[in-house]
Amino acid sequence: MPRRKDSLEGEEEGELQDETTGEDGSAVVEEQSSGSSTEEAIDVEEIDGVGKVTAQKLREAGFMSARDVAYASIRDLLGVVGSEDRAKQIIQSAQRLIGLKSFVTAFEVYENRRSVKYISTGVKALDELLGGGIETRAITELVGEFGVGKTQLCHQLAVMVQLPEDKGGLRGKALYVDTENTFRPERVVQIAKYRGLDPQEALRNILYARAYNSDHQMIIVDEAKKIIDSEGIRLIVIDSLVAHFRAEYPGRENLAERQQKLNHFIGQLLRIADLYNIAVVFTNQVIAQPDVFFGNPQKPAGGNVVAHGATYRLWLRKSKENTRIAKIFDSPMHPEKEALFRIAEEGLLD
Ligand SMILES: Nc1ncnc2c1ncn2[C@@H]1O[C@H](COP(=O)(O)OP(=O)(O)O)[C@@H](O)[C@H]1O
Ligand SMILES: [Mg+2]
Repeated sequence: MPRRKDSLEGEEEGELQDETTGEDGSAVVEEQSSGSSTEEAIDVEEIDGVGKVTAQKLREAGFMSARDVAYASIRDLLGVVGSEDRAKQIIQSAQRLIGLKSFVTAFEVYENRRSVKYISTGVKALDELLGGGIETRAITELVGEFGVGKTQLCHQLAVMVQLPEDKGGLRGKALYVDTENTFRPERVVQIAKYRGLDPQEALRNILYARAYNSDHQMIIVDEAKKIIDSEGIRLIVIDSLVAHFRAEYPGRENLAERQQKLNHFIGQLLRIADLYNIAVVFTNQVIAQPDVFFGNPQKPAGGNVVAHGATYRLWLRKSKENTRIAKIFDSPMHPEKEALFRIAEEGLLD
């Protein structure tokens, strides 16, 4: 990795190298946030004013590349680099380095959207409902009562993402964050066999983390940033998103703090999804609305923060026996259609 001489030393005191490196434009690449994880990452040490020591601190805090720094907020960096001014300068240097612009043309947005990929759910009707499957650079929420199959779908996706593209996958790994201790590797084995994967390999391609509380859950996702590119992760599952938050911040008096933390967490998930071009899926509980007499007496937990954070919201409900009904709600792009699927030994089926 080529290193610029001026970034090798003398920044423990936190002084930034002055910005006389304008003609160093050769280092600027025309990345334009196309966000695909296949791009060569630019080392944080390449950022103007970041030397060895700061680079190390950045990496420890989960900022693995110039791209991570470029998209960070000043608050994110404050704890790492000490002062607000310095955080701002480093972020701006990183933005210059990766060629991040405030304005792009709609054509660039259009081109950018073409990097979006889909992971098949393994259920044709469900894929059709979703417009091709679970989308990368987006967050998909699975909401529904206990036992509707949210966790089953999470297992299935952790397998499906591993398939080659012509079979509906992305040849990637899954990161599975389990907050309720309901992950079952045995289910992965059954599903993988049915999908023609070597079960042992399928298990090895799922990185598992048990989250013991909401802080832990957030730390895990922070840590995840460090391994997404190197491990080839294309899907992050959070099952469930809100359970810990609801348990730890009960009642009205804690609502503001809980929502603030949830908001921060979801914001981070969105940023990861977008930057690394991966899919994020989380599950959510339903809560009763005792004051509703007409229409649906249930609503997803997490309020507006979750409602606005999720790109796609999929509501699952029970039908006869092992049959389930899925419906997309709150979507500006999808018609109010429903899809049927079954839960079987082999996983989710049409
Ligand atoms: N091996 C299996 N074969 C068939 N159905 C299964 C199997 N394992 C779990 N299920 C079904 O999945 C449902 C539970 O789904 P789950 O994903 O745990 O619900 P949720 O996460 O929404 O609470 C149950 O109806 C159960 O019968
Ligand atoms: Mg579950």
